Amino acid sequence: MKVNGKPYRSIWLNNNGWAVDIIDQTRLPHEFVTRTLETMQDAAQAISVMQVRGAPLIGATAAYGLALALHADAGDTNLRWACETLLATRPTAVNLRWALQRMGFELERLPADMRAKRAYQMAAEICNEDVDINHAIGQHGMDVVRNLWDKKPPDAETFNILTHCNAGWLATVDWGTALSVIYQAHDDGIPVHVWVDETRPRNQGAALTAWELAAHGIPHDVIVDNAGGHLMQHGLVDMCITGTDRTARNGDVCNKIGTYLKALAAFDNDVPFYVALPGPTIDWQMADGVNGIPIEQRDSREVTHVAGKNNDGQVESVQITPDGVSARNYAFDVTPARLVTGLFTERGVCEASESGLLGLYPEQKGPGK
Ligand code: MRU
Repeated sequence: MKVNGKPYRSIWLNNNGWAVDIIDQTRLPHEFVTRTLETMQDAAQAISVMQVRGAPLIGATAAYGLALALHADAGDTNLRWACETLLATRPTAVNLRWALQRMGFELERLPADMRAKRAYQMAAEICNEDVDINHAIGQHGMDVVRNLWDKKPPDAETFNILTHCNAGWLATVDWGTALSVIYQAHDDGIPVHVWVDETRPRNQGAALTAWELAAHGIPHDVIVDNAGGHLMQHGLVDMCITGTDRTARNGDVCNKIGTYLKALAAFDNDVPFYVALPGPTIDWQMADGVNGIPIEQRDSREVTHVAGKNNDGQVESVQITPDGVSARNYAFDVTPARLVTGLFTERGVCEASESGLLGLYPEQKGPGK
């Protein structure tokens, strides 16, 4: 997508041909800063501190992190250590494991002197595939949006979509997942308006989704996380679309904390609740998302403090809780499949269930099924 008229992906190979450049998302929306990753540790750090974030981008960064590791030392021990280090950066988004397994499986079978070159190729393939996948998700999702828009009364002026967290191009290599649908619906002439959940504690909605939507000229309003239920009760939400960090085989979807409450409110108010996801976000080994998906717990300081721009234009962090308060920071929750109207994937739209997913990904049925 474009930033000040210049096309960007969220991660790309540096001009030197081996280092990797990223957009430092901790500096948005107030500053647009890029950063160069030169070592595997740089990549691991960028994922841990969330300079890069979002399930598909975490996977892509890990892929390039492995390439950086092998650029330095392509031996077996370093390959294993790099995979372990990168895998430990964040627990919930399954794209991390997917990318490392895909690359590790092939790379460990290659002679050491061929590994680095192939690792860079594979990382680039993962990135390019992600772009194509997300574009296709947007196309399929847009058909559903158009259908719902066509059913609105003729005097309706906007089609109101609520989204949570940031599932835009910044969370992927390009296009985004939930926002890919929104971008393409807007570009296709549907008068989309977006309710952007602020998404405490790290405010990915207020900071990143709002920044992306403004850059693309899409009308939107940032709302506090607790506003969605009220808006739905009053007919002000036509549809919810979120992303997901891991979707279980049974269709349960794990996403940023608070997604579950939006799905409950949507269910209670007959608002369609869709989740957009690339195939690599499906964890086929996870039978039950609610009981099985590991939920990241982050530093309680993210709850007790908020960062923002002060009146002098400086970004600063302020404490909003009493001194010494105890806080817990669960970063994700799981929405049971029964609350999800449907899944937007690169292969089409399906029911959130094992049979729905297997209908689109029959190769995952396994022998004899
Ligand atoms: O903690 P984050 O910012 O990495 O969480 C990101 C999300 O929860 C997104 O909604 C999710 O990764 C899907 S985006 C393609």
